[in-house]
Amino acid sequence: MLGKDLLGLCDASAEDIMLILDTAVNMKKLLTQNLKKLPHLQGRTVTTLFYENSTRTRVSFELAAKYLGAGTVNVSASSSSVQKGETLIDTGKTLDAMKNDVIVIRHPMGGAPHLLAKNVRASVINAGDGMNEHPTQALLDLFTMREKFGSVKGLKVAILGDIKHSRVAKSNLFGLTKLGAKVYMYAPATLIPQGMERMGAVMAKSRREAIAGADVVMGLRIQLERQQGGLFPSLSEYNRFYGVDGSELKFAAPEHIVMHPGPVNRGVELTSSVIDGDSSKITEQVLNGVAVRMALLFLLARQNKEAAK
Ligand code: CP
Repeated sequence: MLGKDLLGLCDASAEDIMLILDTAVNMKKLLTQNLKKLPHLQGRTVTTLFYENSTRTRVSFELAAKYLGAGTVNVSASSSSVQKGETLIDTGKTLDAMKNDVIVIRHPMGGAPHLLAKNVRASVINAGDGMNEHPTQALLDLFTMREKFGSVKGLKVAILGDIKHSRVAKSNLFGLTKLGAKVYMYAPATLIPQGMERMGAVMAKSRREAIAGADVVMGLRIQLERQQGGLFPSLSEYNRFYGVDGSELKFAAPEHIVMHPGPVNRGVELTSSVIDGDSSKITEQVLNGVAVRMALLFLLARQNKEAAK
């Protein structure tokens, strides 16, 4: 059962994942009817606490909370008392003291949300911690795949790009394997962390092997901000050998979809014609991110209400 927090998909059960996805189906129906003043979280407060930049994740959490009737507060590290040396735990306790109910945190250090969760009363949601996990991105990706194919079980999912620095790749690998998909990964040798096979991935020897027959082709952003440099020769060479264009997609399954968590480096991970093409689900992923985060906020609030009885 879902607990107080959502810190990663490593420890989430397949049942919890399915519960969130099923609830998100209903949330998406409300969204598509343009119902944005719902009562589910009336009287609750959700704070986004971001120590790293974000567009999609931070805004979609804020909108999800607002659409469900919660109050929202945004704290960015650059304009908060973090700049005066306040610790993460003290920041969390300060928000607790103000009766805040949920903290959505993004932090450059892996494990920061877990530390916070142990020390605050509020529910903590991991919105990306270093190179560790980004569970709500993987949940919206799973939702998008299930929406297209009806089920995630048995799908071939090819993940190409900067796997080493990608919290999205790790959360997706946990979620996809738990729901019965086959995950192929392909990247330059310098961008593959150890142990991915142990976690259930097939490490493809070529881009063609990864993409051949794939139902889902997922590009990952090259994370220049987390690299010391020298991990591949140049962005144009990266695109030539590891990027995805229309000619490579001819080898994917006929009904394949293309996904990317964003932000995309156009012409590096994917060509513009792929990003804007018919099989691209990148914009749908963004919409689904709101529905999935609405579902998660609702389920955590319901769980905490039960726990308080
Ligand atoms: N996918 C994702 O995490 O995007 P942002 O960095 O814009 O939140």
